[in-house]
Amino acid sequence: MSRRGSFWASICSAAALVAACATAVPRPTEGDQARAAARWPDLGPTDLDDGRALYVNRCSGCHALVPPKSRPPMAWPHEVALMSERAGLDDRERELVTRYVVTMSEERPASPAPAE
Ligand code: HEC
Repeated sequence: MSRRGSFWASICSAAALVAACATAVPRPTEGDQARAAARWPDLGPTDLDDGRALYVNRCSGCHALVPPKSRPPMAWPHEVALMSERAGLDDRERELVTRYVVTMSEERPASPAPAE
């Protein structure tokens, strides 16, 4: 099962598909990190990137990655909980994936908000 995951992850990193994958599964920005840190006070500096890597590697083996934006933020914890068993995620991995998809499903400014 994990081999299928890495197969799709390698497809996703193939040059021709980078743009499509990046759109559906955006990389967290500093603004995303700031919003997530407000939501999860214990957020680590690599949590969102780690969550994204887990999402790409472990959630793409059976179906196309579901873009975070396709669900409202509060729908995601339930979706990830349902899928964690299928994806073989432990509690920590599930939490990281949840943090990533919840954060990236929120309405995000097109560019980082100016510092106040
Ligand atoms: C072992 C195969 C498998 C893996 C791995 C897997 N899924 Fe799924 N997923 C499915 C199947 C099958 C469905 C179809 C609906 C159902 O059976 O619940 C589905 C449906 C979904 C849906 C609902 C899609 C819709 O149109 O409503 C979401 C969201 C989702 N998966 C997210 C994830 C996430 C997040 C992960 C990683 C944590 C993941 N999946 C890993 C098999 C998998």
